[in-house]
Formats: sequence, structure tokens, C-alpha cells
Amino acid sequence: MVDLSVNLAGIKLKNPTILASGILGLDVATLKRIVNGGAGAVTIKSLTSEPRKGHNNPIFIEAAEGAFMNAVGYANKGIDHGIEEFKKWDEKMPLIGSIVAADAKEFAVLAEKIQETPIEALEIVLSCPHTPGYGLLAGQGSPKATFEITKAVRKKTKLPLSVKLSPSIEAIGEVAKAAESAGADIVNMGNTLGPGMRIDINRASPTLAFKIGGMSGPAIKPITIRSVFDLYKAVKIPIIATGGIMTGEDVIEAVMAGATAVGIGTGIYYRGLTVFKKVCREVEDWLKKNKFKDLRSLKGIVHQ
Ligand SMILES: Cc1cc2nc3c(=O)[nH]c(=O)nc-3n(C[C@H](O)[C@H](O)[C@H](O)COP(=O)(O)O)c2cc1C
Repeated sequence: MVDLSVNLAGIKLKNPTILASGILGLDVATLKRIVNGGAGAVTIKSLTSEPRKGHNNPIFIEAAEGAFMNAVGYANKGIDHGIEEFKKWDEKMPLIGSIVAADAKEFAVLAEKIQETPIEALEIVLSCPHTPGYGLLAGQGSPKATFEITKAVRKKTKLPLSVKLSPSIEAIGEVAKAAESAGADIVNMGNTLGPGMRIDINRASPTLAFKIGGMSGPAIKPITIRSVFDLYKAVKIPIIATGGIMTGEDVIEAVMAGATAVGIGTGIYYRGLTVFKKVCREVEDWLKKNKFKDLRSLKGIVHQ
């Protein structure tokens, strides 16, 4: 038997696969389907202070082979609705909260409120590339903004705190260090890449209604791996590798670069809701074949 369990900043996961935020995390019923799909933890869809309609359709397209592009624009029913919904969580599987806000003060309010739910960790998202007022379009990807927001949230919660960063930022090590020094326990690397754009040549118009969107899926995996590799050198806190991870070998690659766990989103479109189970079986097979007893011992080995 090989051991896939990981300790993520004090949370025990039976395996390293985590449902990434925004993919099926709007309610308890759909998250339960991911529990059956074999994930180690699930993240809810990011919540905002007020309900949001999000961008107009089309919001999600196949952008290239191995790449999707989305501009959902944080469509959600708002924090108060989210709290009532996720209070109903009764699974043993760790539930990770996720919030987005315009500034440090608003983040702090949401962080306090969301603790009415049984979340075991809290993710703050500073990295969306396509929603005005949030993430990169609000300048939240700088070391200064990252420090201020993380610090404000840290004061409001003792839960393990994960900061979700952008793969599109050059000085990613500096941003991660800012998060760590402000008290973050985990960095999630990361959000969608970009923004990118496709043009429908028959309409001579951008394909996404919002024109630009964030790229996800296997085509962005090399960026994720390089970013995790850089972050492993920059910070001591655990890293969640998110972006194009969807096979067992992707997980091995991410862990060798320095990740403790992985986020999976677009992989569901390619491999179905049981992608988590499939990935874990592939990791197990690879470990057995290569005579490793556990996944943990591979962490960061490319740095040696
Ligand atoms: C349709 C869609 C909606 C998303 N919504 C959110 C969100 O609400 N909050 C967030 O932090 N990330 C969101 N993301 C980003 C994913 O969590 C993930 O970081 C990204 O898609 C890269 O991982 P992947 O290649 O496994 O999908 C969304 C991605 C997609 C495709």
C-alpha cells in the first residue's frame, strides 16, 4: 500500500487532490458529487459581499487544444446566501471557503462572516484576470496589496489561510513572500493564466462577451510547474499547484517541483467528476512502479 495522505498546514487530506474554486462549488449538493468522485478536499465557488450576475454569455469557451478560457465574472448569490448554503455541509471531507473582495476591509468582513460555516481553511483570491474591481484588475497582485489584504484577513481568523496567486505575474516569489510574511499558511499557485482573447472571425468580434478571459487546462500546466518551482525556493509554507493538473503524472510533476497538494478544475471537463479517483489511482501506480512508499517523500526533489 502506498500512502497518498498529506498534511496541508494542519489539515489532514486523505489524498492531495482538491476541487479548485469555481468549478461546481456553488452548492452542497454538487460538492457532494465531488466527494463521491474521490477528492481529498473541496473548495467552494468564491463568494462576494453582494450577489453578482457575472459577465454575459458566452463565458466559457475552448480556446485552443488543451486550453479553455473563461470570464465568468464571479457569478454567485453573495456571502449571506453562501453561509446558509454551506452551513449544511455534513461531510467528513474538508471544505475550503473562498472569498473575493475589492479591498482589505471588505475581505476582512467576509472572512469573519464565512466562519459561520464549517470550513476548515479559508482561501482569499487576489488573482482573477478578468473581473473589474477584483484581483489583477484591481491591482491585488502586487506584493503591497497582497500583504495588506492577507494581514487584514489574518487578524480575523485562526483557520489555515490560503492565498490564491496569479501565474501571470513576473515577480511571483515576491508576492508569495508578502503573503507569507503577513501570516498566510498556504499559497495556491494559481488562478487562470492571462487574460487571453479569441476572435470569432465570422462575426469579427471577440468570442467571449467580456472579450478577455483567463486560460485554464492542460496547456497551462508548464507555467504552473515553473511557478511552483519558483515559489518553493521563495517561501516555506505549503503550496497547492493549480492550473492544468489532471493526471497522476501531473501530480508527481507538481510535487517534485515543490507542491504539497494540487487543485483540479478544468480536468473535470476532460475526465469527468471521478477525475480525482482516476488521478489518485495513477499516482499510486506510479509510486508502486517506482518503489516509493508515499507521495510526501517526492516533495521538492528536483531542487536537490
Ligand atoms: C469556469 C471557471 C470558473 C472559475 N471560478 C473561480 C472562482 O470563482 N474563484 C477562483 O478562485 N478561481 C476560479 N477559477 C479558477 C480555477 O479555480 C483554477 O484556478 C483555474 O481554472 C486553473 O486550474 P485548472 O486548469 O485545473 O482549471 C475558475 C475557473 C473556471 C474554469
